[in-house]
Amino acid sequence: MRNFMKDVPNSLGYRLGGRVMTAVLSGLLFLSCVVLPVDLGHAASRAAAAPTPVTSLATVSGAVTAGKPFKWAQVYLKNIDKRIQYMVFTSGGAFRAVSLFPGHYEVTARAVGMESATQRIVVKNGKIDNLTLAMKEAADPSLFPSSVPNATNTLFNAAGWNNVSAPVKFGSYDEIYPPGPGRVVLENMCFSCHGENTFALSPRSEDAWKYAIDYMRGAFLDQRERVGFGEGTLAGSASNFRFTIQDRKDLLEYLTKYLGPDQPSRAVRTDVPVPFDESELAKAQLIEYYVGKEAAPGAKPVQSTATGSEGDATATEGQQTLITMQLDGEGNVWAVNRAIPSQLVKLDPRTGEQFFYVLPDPTAGVHDLVIGRDGTIWVTEFTRDFFGSGAGDANPPRLLGFNPKTLKWDHILDADPDGVIGALPKGPLMSPTVDSKGNVYLNWMLRGAIAKWNPGDQKMKVFRIPTPGATPYGAAIDAKDNVWVALWNGGKLGKFDTSVEQWTEFTPPTQPANFRRGPAVDAKNNVWVGIWAGGPRSGKIAKLDQTTGHWTEWNIPHRGAQPYEASVDAEDNIWFPETGNPDSPSLIARFNPRTEKFTFYPRLQFVADSSRLEHTTDGAVWYAPRYGAPAGHSAFGVLYPDKDKISSLAAYPLNGTPGYAFTVGTPAKDAKSAGH
Ligand code: HEC
Repeated sequence: MRNFMKDVPNSLGYRLGGRVMTAVLSGLLFLSCVVLPVDLGHAASRAAAAPTPVTSLATVSGAVTAGKPFKWAQVYLKNIDKRIQYMVFTSGGAFRAVSLFPGHYEVTARAVGMESATQRIVVKNGKIDNLTLAMKEAADPSLFPSSVPNATNTLFNAAGWNNVSAPVKFGSYDEIYPPGPGRVVLENMCFSCHGENTFALSPRSEDAWKYAIDYMRGAFLDQRERVGFGEGTLAGSASNFRFTIQDRKDLLEYLTKYLGPDQPSRAVRTDVPVPFDESELAKAQLIEYYVGKEAAPGAKPVQSTATGSEGDATATEGQQTLITMQLDGEGNVWAVNRAIPSQLVKLDPRTGEQFFYVLPDPTAGVHDLVIGRDGTIWVTEFTRDFFGSGAGDANPPRLLGFNPKTLKWDHILDADPDGVIGALPKGPLMSPTVDSKGNVYLNWMLRGAIAKWNPGDQKMKVFRIPTPGATPYGAAIDAKDNVWVALWNGGKLGKFDTSVEQWTEFTPPTQPANFRRGPAVDAKNNVWVGIWAGGPRSGKIAKLDQTTGHWTEWNIPHRGAQPYEASVDAEDNIWFPETGNPDSPSLIARFNPRTEKFTFYPRLQFVADSSRLEHTTDGAVWYAPRYGAPAGHSAFGVLYPDKDKISSLAAYPLNGTPGYAFTVGTPAKDAKSAGH
């Protein structure tokens, strides 16, 4: 079902640069309505459960041994009762995990090519200090540690990737992409968005390559509207890319010669690995609170439902996929759950309890949310009948407002009431942001526009973006209420001045650039973005100084970096989640602009990516393991870069909701005093 492009030229599955995203554009309608245990009624009463103070939580420490030297082994402590997993790293073999909920645990250690047996222990309040875990050689010596079984060889199956069923073969860049004019085209035109592995992982026939090239240059757009974010990106003079007829010829010849259907799935070996630092890792602790219940054994995969959630072939009955999260003013974390039915989920990290609220349209896909300064939880619907039905646009996505006090959906809003979008289907809504006055902005991602909801006059207004075929992905507000929008089609930052409703566009020195979820604004009002690696060109972190209009770029020091966005913590460090590569883990990374130092943290799950990060007042970094998480392993995740600073498990956003690094007007809530 996945790799249709190999042979079925009217459907399109896409994985960009390393992880799964699927836009199923076939006419398939697969109705499935599995009702999850959803606890609407009890939520209010259960929410009052008393939090456990950190002082009454437990500490487990000990040593990891092995027959040969190792560094920063990963120690996983899985609380079976609560479905929470902790991970710490060894330093000189010693480890320590803190703030553990009491319960039954399974403890395992893994390092590259090594693993211990799993020990069962019972943790009560207090301390266990001499747990020893002896590691042995793992069956696969190249295996990178992970909390879930996804050996390199089965990575793509485990992740619900494409139908790459044979082991992936690794090679040098030159082995996989021999020099030639076609490679130059790939480097200039394709790798910035797709990464260097996507194509080699799915070799295909000349016809299928030709179809893909035609799709990217918009050859079908004289017969129908654009249906995918990439479609028409390389459309001759309408595009910022220079994709000449000669380029196309060279590319097709090259792909046919080197990446034909007789080739195995291959990937470029990471020749410059991620520089992990044991002393930094030793301070860190990660926690994953798995969402919902395990999928029942033997649960059926839900194939590309027209009704569900981004037409997803990885969804399994009962499986949850948290896409992005936000922190409220009360210490809770809220996520959108692209499940069946689509939901909003609240986690109280103090107790581990979760609460589920079904969306007004339970079949709407969902990717994004923002918590307004008044506490309203704004959710953008991603799909209703866009992907899959082919039925046009009877039900375009809407902006939803959830009231966490009454647990009611107070707002269900048409995001294009005046029909400015024009094309059908209107495509998904993404990246809601709020300004200091409580206005909500959102992206019409497929159609190159943003919408503004003004709760004062109750009006929704749509503004088109000046770049042709603009694909606005991530967005952020700055301290002066400008909206910054990352344009996927080549790498521009659009600034929308909300006081005069005018656009200005900014381009970084690296062009073309792939920004994805894009921008964040620091306390000094600089705008930051992450730029994906483009084959041999490294990934970057880039800063736009608004006062001078100048950009500065820093290379991310390992091969194939794919920073999904940039975000800012309380000390103006820049953080980014990285989609990993087939032989390199998904990461959370920090860049300190003052020392220009990068620090990298592998996540528990080698594969599962994360598109965004949220920061608390006390330095915790929240993320959601997303695509690639096996059934039962989508989660609310949190990294404590310094576990000795954990004073509460509650998560308070910087400067009140929605968690900006700068102060805006009078924050709706003083985060610190909001209920410790
Ligand atoms: C600006 C980003 C961007 C650039 C540049 C780009 N693509 Fe794409 N491409 C996409 C997106 C996004 C999709 C997924 C389908 C969609 O949403 O339109 C896609 C889909 C594809 C697919 C189908 C996915 C699969 O693996 O089956 C192929 C093949 C492809 N592109 C090839 C190329 C080639 C070859 C180039 C360079 C000549 C290129 N693309 C340049 C964004 C891009």
